[in-house]
Amino acid sequence: NDGSTKQPLTLGFDAILGSKTDAIVVPPGYTAQILIPWGTALNDSISGWSESLAFTPTIQENSVGMHHDGMYHFPLAEDTASSNFILALNNEYIDQAALWEPQGGPTTTSPRPADEVRTEINAHGVTLVEVKKASDGSWSHVENSPYNRRITSATEIGLAGPVAGSDYVITKYSTDGTKTRGTNNNCAAGYTPWGTYLTCEENWPGYFVKTASRYNDDDRLGIESSGGRYGWETAAGDGSEVNDEFGRFDATPSGATAADDYRNEPRTFGYIVEIDPYTGEAMKRTHLGRFRHEGCWPGKLVEGEPVVFYSSHDSRNEYIYKFVSDAVWSASDANNVGGTYDRMAIGSKYMDEGTLYVAKFNADGTGEWLPLTPDAETPAGGTLAAALGLAADDLAGVIINTCDAADIMGATPMDRPEWGAVDPASGDVYMTLTNNSKRTAEGVAATYTNSGTDIDDLGVGYATAPVNAPNPRADNENGQIIRWQEGTASSTTFEWEIFVFGGAVTGNDNPSGLTELNQFASPDGLFYDQRDGEEGILWVETDNGGNAVADYTNDQLLAVVPSSVSGNSNSPSVVDQQDQSNLKRFAVGPNGCEITGIFTTPDKTALFINVQHPGNWPSSSDATAVTSGTVRPRASTVVIQKADGGQVGV
Ligand code: FEO
Ligand code: CA
Ligand code: CA
Ligand code: CA
Repeated sequence: NDGSTKQPLTLGFDAILGSKTDAIVVPPGYTAQILIPWGTALNDSISGWSESLAFTPTIQENSVGMHHDGMYHFPLAEDTASSNFILALNNEYIDQAALWEPQGGPTTTSPRPADEVRTEINAHGVTLVEVKKASDGSWSHVENSPYNRRITSATEIGLAGPVAGSDYVITKYSTDGTKTRGTNNNCAAGYTPWGTYLTCEENWPGYFVKTASRYNDDDRLGIESSGGRYGWETAAGDGSEVNDEFGRFDATPSGATAADDYRNEPRTFGYIVEIDPYTGEAMKRTHLGRFRHEGCWPGKLVEGEPVVFYSSHDSRNEYIYKFVSDAVWSASDANNVGGTYDRMAIGSKYMDEGTLYVAKFNADGTGEWLPLTPDAETPAGGTLAAALGLAADDLAGVIINTCDAADIMGATPMDRPEWGAVDPASGDVYMTLTNNSKRTAEGVAATYTNSGTDIDDLGVGYATAPVNAPNPRADNENGQIIRWQEGTASSTTFEWEIFVFGGAVTGNDNPSGLTELNQFASPDGLFYDQRDGEEGILWVETDNGGNAVADYTNDQLLAVVPSSVSGNSNSPSVVDQQDQSNLKRFAVGPNGCEITGIFTTPDKTALFINVQHPGNWPSSSDATAVTSGTVRPRASTVVIQKADGGQVGV
């Protein structure tokens, strides 16, 4: 840990109060601009946005998708990296009322009309769009840029890694198990050192129904047993289906073998998907595990050492994972902007061969990475493959059943792991644990039933998990942020501590002593904003509701300059209030939204965030304008800058 060698950094803004309005609030001296809201035309082949726009499959496929979430930036030239780049943006799910507002809402009778479902499918996935900054500091998207594309829940995507080509993913569409259609519920995002985007499939199980012949992993992950989230599978009954485009969402076996139906279609989801933002090529990198992937973040990068990615399963009492590549990092593979460069081949080199681990947190402040390999020895003795009932060399089977494998190896059930962030200089890893209503003092073993109504209701290993050292609060409604430090990226041990507890100034749940100026709950998005040779800013976003903090303020963005990991290997503890007293509220979102998706430009003059599921916003290109009257709500990217053009946050 080289935190001690960094120059100190001080936050240069006054913390703002909470807010509950239909507007973004930022500190004095800052501006906030709307960029690429849902429905923005990517090219001139379609009619652009209007309040009365009636969406069609073609319009939505050529427009920015809905419900912005994770995102990242990819330069088009090194010298314009902070003013002109490809913005890769997740479109997690949809607000059907807003999508179908001109017709008074979606058609919910069965069968749903094919073109309504096609439009909804096209509103999901990923948007790639070129954006640029004008000389007056305002940002816009470049209509008709050759980089503008949509990857939707219908786009063909290849499978790579251990699951690819296995019997587990044979479908009528891909009888050799090498491809599928679509990526879905793309939540948080990541990036690779070789210039690709990582989009992460989170709450996809709710889109599939299987009424019979369910697999164990169908129950574990929450494949629906009576109907999909938006009833897409019903559109197969409208008669205009092409190549099982809707029937594939019903995974109930209907044919003689897996090659005759879509019983395995849900096993082609739940992955980290790598996208080359410059070409639109995409592959599902199955070796990073199969579950409800919130996000994926590269660890500290060291020449000659393996490349590491951290990921998280956002469900109650699920786990934190790490993938370690077999190949060691060579700087010659770094993103070669403008050069001839096969990014997907480099992705295969670092993401298809390696080892997946799951985290075990010990009460003494140490932790272990437990390997999820067929030959791993389980705590009960014998191999992991045998414990899962698999053939001795069935790595694909271990990956398909990642969560069960993690149970068997003794992973620590967490309070809904959401985003991670890595200090690339020290290697410190931060992760949000957003909340957990299924944590109790004693814990209760699972008797699993799939209610089909709560997509987060997945306490499979535990009906409720008992409190443990990194998750010490029963019925945890405020959440916490943990961090850990490893010797090297490929270490199988680590030291951890709780960085800060969410809490409310009212009531009696405020272990970190938060104040009116920084009380928060349900931390979700995270971004470590590195500044060369200086300490960095850890930005924290929230996705909160139904508690004392939500009574005080809408969802928010806070900033903190973290002190170094204290290395308290024998006494896991909360970082002293003294050390995180510079935690400050920087921005607050409009009513009804969550704040998510975050990065800063390399020159630190622009901070990009996303506002997802606002209730009645935006009404102007100025994100700080309070909506008067009622508007058709649109998720949007918001660019926050200093009016004087200086660096954000300092
Ligand atoms: Fe899509 Fe766990 O947030
Ligand atoms: Ca999230
Ligand atoms: Ca969340
Ligand atoms: Ca969300």
